[in-house]
Amino acid sequence: MDKLVVHGGSTLKGAINISGSKNASLPILAAAILTGEDCIIRRVPDVSDTNYMIQILSALGADVERSSGTVRITCADIMDEAPYELVRRMRASICVMGPLLARKGRAVVSLPGGCVIGDRPVDLHLKGMKALGAKIEMEGGNITLTAPNGLKGAEMDLRGESGPTVLGTDNVMMAATLAEGTTIINSAAAEPEVLDLANFLNSLGAKITGAGTRRIVIEGVKELHGVEHTVIPDRIEAGTFMAAAALVGEGVTLNRVNQEHLTAITQAIVKSGHIVKFNEAGDSCFIQRGENPIGVDLNTSPYPGYPTDMQAQMTALLALTPGISVIKDSIFPQRFMHCAELKRMGADIKTDHGMAIVRGVKELSAAPVMASDLRASAALVLAALKAKGTTEISRLYHIDRGYEHIDEKLLMLGANVERVRV
Ligand code: EPZ
Repeated sequence: MDKLVVHGGSTLKGAINISGSKNASLPILAAAILTGEDCIIRRVPDVSDTNYMIQILSALGADVERSSGTVRITCADIMDEAPYELVRRMRASICVMGPLLARKGRAVVSLPGGCVIGDRPVDLHLKGMKALGAKIEMEGGNITLTAPNGLKGAEMDLRGESGPTVLGTDNVMMAATLAEGTTIINSAAAEPEVLDLANFLNSLGAKITGAGTRRIVIEGVKELHGVEHTVIPDRIEAGTFMAAAALVGEGVTLNRVNQEHLTAITQAIVKSGHIVKFNEAGDSCFIQRGENPIGVDLNTSPYPGYPTDMQAQMTALLALTPGISVIKDSIFPQRFMHCAELKRMGADIKTDHGMAIVRGVKELSAAPVMASDLRASAALVLAALKAKGTTEISRLYHIDRGYEHIDEKLLMLGANVERVRV
């Protein structure tokens, strides 16, 4: 039950390295279930979510070894039922469903419970599995999927009310790698993390084309082999530090980034009056706070649109930016838990039906605040860096789910923060 004590008023300066992507690592770790051979995955961030996934794989019978960012997984002999006690702690554990069903012909996973960022059903995952010929039963909070004679390739559309599904696309893509025949996923998610998973699967011997577009084609194969893979950089961690640098930076460099993956985030930060420069290789960027920042309107949408996982952090930046900004989250319309806490610090924000109307204020004042979810907690850290006085952010376990050693990285950039055990 750590808390982060942030002494506001310091400026950020210097350089840090961005970690590997949490949201690419999670499905890639699960995909190791598809083969009995060694999978070596590099640059897996040391965050609680990847540790949960490793615990789930070990509980399923995988042999796992981790040394700093490198994880070796061998699923020689694997069970087909994921333990509720572990699965309930992380929604992303749903992505063991596809690999287990494809490898074992059966998968039992618990239905994910509620989530503070909004309604998160798995109907599209099940729609895809059903199209591949799986029989689906729900009982006692568990989903049991069976395909004793193996899965069969099929064409499907995975579009939901708010667009494509990221983990749904991942799950069906993984299941289809060992199905008989061809699978076509229309309205697929095109996030860089989906493409990284497809690249990993292809290096295992799968036959996937079209990943990174809305139409993915998978030619099923009989079996897959082991491989080594390095995970892409975490674009949301990079975006978070870009927003922090725009708020309180005096020249910050982020190394180990991917310029293309940051296009929408960079556009928003530049449009709000700040400077972002990438090096020629596009793997490092320099951010300088602008002289005349201005409010901007934002609407989150599936990649390559503006990511919902960067909505809260941008709300914190715009809360301290002159002018009015209208922020709409069309993927998770209820994802505004951070606003109530920002208002406790003096922000002027009105939330209404999936939207926040932010009127920029000159300054915020420190107050004890509570993290409610991963990205909301990052927004509170940003606000606290700028606020007058000392802010205590409790429930830090939320931020540890997806940011590797965030307090150490902030200290490296000159922030005055300390992690306190409660
Ligand atoms: C992934 O979650 C990310 N998680 C989320 O990041 C991210 O917010 C989300 O994609 C959207 O970009 C991981 O990659 C581990 P979705 P996922 O299925 O796949 C609806 C973070 O902060 N939907 O793409 O679970 C759903 O309700 C996390 O790192 C259905 O209706 O999200 C939502 O409105 C938080 N039926 C929309 O689709 C389904 O079966 C997009 O959700 C599935 C989803």
